[in-house]
Amino acid sequence: MPKIFITRQLPENVISKLKNQFEVDMWPYEEKPVERDELLKQAEEADALLTMLTDSIDEEVFRKAKNLKVVANLAVGYDNIDIETAKEYGVTVTNTPDVLNETTADLTFALLLATARRIPEAVKYIKQDEWKTWSPLLLAGSDVHHKTLGIVGMGSIGQAVAKRATGFNMNIIYHNRSRKEEAEQKLGATYGSFDELLAKSDFVVCMTPLTDETKDMFDREAFEKMKDSAIFVNSSRGGVVNEEDLYDALKNEHIKAAGLDVFKGEPIKSDHALLELDNVVALPHIGSSSVETRMKMIELAIQNVENVLVGEKPVTPIG
Ligand code: DGY
Repeated sequence: MPKIFITRQLPENVISKLKNQFEVDMWPYEEKPVERDELLKQAEEADALLTMLTDSIDEEVFRKAKNLKVVANLAVGYDNIDIETAKEYGVTVTNTPDVLNETTADLTFALLLATARRIPEAVKYIKQDEWKTWSPLLLAGSDVHHKTLGIVGMGSIGQAVAKRATGFNMNIIYHNRSRKEEAEQKLGATYGSFDELLAKSDFVVCMTPLTDETKDMFDREAFEKMKDSAIFVNSSRGGVVNEEDLYDALKNEHIKAAGLDVFKGEPIKSDHALLELDNVVALPHIGSSSVETRMKMIELAIQNVENVLVGEKPVTPIG
C-alpha cells in the first residue's frame, strides 16, 4: 500500500477515506510543527507528503525520499518548498489555490479596517476602564471610504480585496508582474508602477507571494516613498517586508500604521519589536482561517494526494 505522511494533526473524519486505499501516518499534534528528524524519517518511506507552510521541504527531504511522488502543501503559498529540486527529483507539488480567495480577502479587509479605525486599541481601552466620556477626537482613526487603495500583487486574492474596496468607493491602483485587464475593467482598478503606487496610496496592501524577486521589497526606501499618513497591510508572507525598516518607518512616523497577519519568523513572541508599537495591529497568520475554508483546503490537499497516487492528474499542481 502506498504510504502517506501528514505533517500535522488533521480531523480524523476527513482523512479516514484515505485509509481504505493507503497507509496513513500523521504527526499527532495540532499546534506543534513536525520535528525535522521525524519528517526526514517519514520521508524516507513516504509516497506522499501532505505538508504545512511551516515545514521546510528542501533538497535534504527530496534526497532522502526515494519513493516520493507528491508533496501536497496545505496553503496557496509554497515558498517553503524547493520547487526546482522537486522537479529534478520528478516529484509533483500541489497547493490549495482559489478555495481561500474570499476568506483571505475578508481577513485582509478586516485588518485594514481594524488598523485604520484603531479597533484593537479601542477594545483594550474599554476593557481597561479607561473610557471616561465621549470626546471629540477619542481614538480618532483614518477614513477608509473614498481613499486610494494600492494593491501589490493582483492575483485572485488581490482582486477579491479590490472587489471589497469598490463597496467602500475606494480608488484602486494595483501593481503586478503583468497587467490584469479584466480586473481593470470590472473593478475600475488602474495599473501603476511600484513607486507610483507607493506615492499615491492611502492604504498599501501587500498580496504578493514570497519569491526571490519580492523578498524584502518593502524596505526603507519603499516606506520612505509612501505618504506619512499611509497604512501598510500585509497578509501574504512576512519575508516580503524588511521588519527593521518597517519598525523604523512606524516609529519615526514615515507611515502611520501597519496591519500585519504575517511575519518573517513565525510565530513571533510578545517581545517582538513591532508589538511594542500602538500603531501596529498584529494577527497570527489567520488569513484563510475560517472553518469552512480550512476544511476545503484540507479536502483539496487530500484530493491532490489521492489523484497522484492513483495515477491521475492532481487538481491544483504547481507549475
Ligand atoms: C496560504 O495559503 O498560503 C496562507 O498563507 C495560509 O493561510
